[in-house]
Amino acid sequence: MCGITAYIGKGQALPFLMQGLEKLEYRGYDSAGVTVLNNNQLTTVKCKGRLKNLEEALKGHDMTGSVGIGHTRWATHGIPSNLNSHPHNNADGTLSIVHNGIIENYRELKDILIDKGYKFQSQTDSEVVVQCLDYFYKRGGDLMDAVHKVLNCIEGSYALCIIATKEPDKIIVAKKNSPLVVGKTEEGYVAASDIPALLAYTKEVYFLGDDEMAVLTKDDVHFYNRRNEELHKDITVIPYTLESAQKGGYDTFMLKEIHEQPTAIRETMRGRIFNGRLVFDELKDVDFTKFNKVYYIGCGTAYHACLCGAQIFELENHVPVFAQYASEFRYGNPIIDDKTLCVFCSQSGETADTLAALKLAKEKGCTTISVVNVLGSSIARASDVALYTAAGPEIAVASTKAYTTQIVLLSLFATYVAQELGYPVDEDLLTQMDKIPNYVEALLKDDPIFEGYAKKLENQHDCYFIGRRLDYASVMEGALKLKEVSYVHADAYVGGELKHGAIALIEEGTVVVAVATQPDIAAKTISNIEETIARGADVILFTTDQFDTSAVKTVYRLPNVNPLLMPLLVAIPMQLLAYHTAVIKGRDVDKPRNLAKSVTVE
Ligand code: G6P
Repeated sequence: MCGITAYIGKGQALPFLMQGLEKLEYRGYDSAGVTVLNNNQLTTVKCKGRLKNLEEALKGHDMTGSVGIGHTRWATHGIPSNLNSHPHNNADGTLSIVHNGIIENYRELKDILIDKGYKFQSQTDSEVVVQCLDYFYKRGGDLMDAVHKVLNCIEGSYALCIIATKEPDKIIVAKKNSPLVVGKTEEGYVAASDIPALLAYTKEVYFLGDDEMAVLTKDDVHFYNRRNEELHKDITVIPYTLESAQKGGYDTFMLKEIHEQPTAIRETMRGRIFNGRLVFDELKDVDFTKFNKVYYIGCGTAYHACLCGAQIFELENHVPVFAQYASEFRYGNPIIDDKTLCVFCSQSGETADTLAALKLAKEKGCTTISVVNVLGSSIARASDVALYTAAGPEIAVASTKAYTTQIVLLSLFATYVAQELGYPVDEDLLTQMDKIPNYVEALLKDDPIFEGYAKKLENQHDCYFIGRRLDYASVMEGALKLKEVSYVHADAYVGGELKHGAIALIEEGTVVVAVATQPDIAAKTISNIEETIARGADVILFTTDQFDTSAVKTVYRLPNVNPLLMPLLVAIPMQLLAYHTAVIKGRDVDKPRNLAKSVTVE
């Protein structure tokens, strides 16, 4: 989704703006642009396409200046085009803005402004912000007054950066339901929609809350709420480095992040198990005896981690648990109250649907716990308790290490609750958990085998995944990974449902990826596999050494660990199968078409 950068300082703005936009490329975008302010004049260059198009377009422009704003756009209102790209300026070129989010009442505001004689250049919702700002600013007061008035008019979500030729010594930024961080550098102050954009310049950041604004100058920063009262904010020091947000010798971020999983899992477990007991100090004030129902909520890959977490929690804590997509939960009138525990899972901590679902749960009096990867993110801050995965920055759009670390944390969390409620703690799970990073390392060494399986998919249009119970969560994730990065159509089915429809799709040569690791149900899945083989399917089966698989030609034997932990191992071949299929097909692995890393609009 859209990315924002802003710079004010003693140096030049453009280098920061461009490197920051490059670091935000992973969010997904279709056009880019920058405005630089110099000698009371704005120079804006923007165009459709990748940053290299913008670099070309910048040649021949004097972009000298120590104040500037930049943007990568992911189209929501209006096609990707030069005119729809940001920054958007007013007609006389005295104001320039970049915006992330959606202005929901933009049509209404646009009509009012058109009646007042304003002419619009673009089809975007964002342009109303600059036109509205122009209207108020020209009627007196300073830029800050005008920004307050604009924010009173607009509805929806926004992260905004604003510059004006009449007040060239400042950048005003504002945020509501769209991420924005401010960084303090040696040269001055910077802002961006995500931390990697700042890391080359600083690790010291301030997190802006919703309905907060900041005024950045080269010497200081001041924060305000919507009543214009000044706020005190502490600096947070980011615990990871620029190197950890770079490719480090791998061809792609996705491959690097797949290989980082042993470390990410170890880091996520660190300090959680002490003398055979689970340690979650963050949860010490939560009374787990009061819950009669639990929801696990997320989107995309995080939802698949929820599917695992929910099953483990239910099994260990004997309470009904529901896993739901955030977008369904928020509009589903869920029957929830103060006896409901809601667990929200999100890598970015910024996904709009998950955040809205969290706000709904809070309104209804539920206890809210989030499992997030990004420090200080909106979901982390809005929930009663935030538990952090320690995956480090995840840049590739397709989530890998965030997924496995979410499962680790959710498994430990479920076991902690059992410990607190006095249920027998699954000691085998704790012992085996310790060994998972080593098993993952061993699986990564088998990469050439998974690459071999990927060759089967080179000329396939479709691929079907089957599994049951926890293996169903694993195949849901496997199918998502494959379609995300390779664009091969992939669907996951519960083994027992095959004969109710999907088996009609199996014909000679259809590739079926099957997972059968759960002892109580694996034999059933293997029967389903045989049914597909009888109809010509080319099956790749991931299982352990406990089951009779003589009917299947291609079998990969996973290490035999506690069944509840098998999704952590299955994830590795699923990720590598998707990865190699995408490479074979020549796809843009890290930035698949139409997808965004952080989905900050509904
Ligand atoms: C996008 C990403 C997915 C991710 C999902 C949820 O669709 O492309 O990889 O799983 O959002 O994101 P979150 O940050 O909430 O985990």
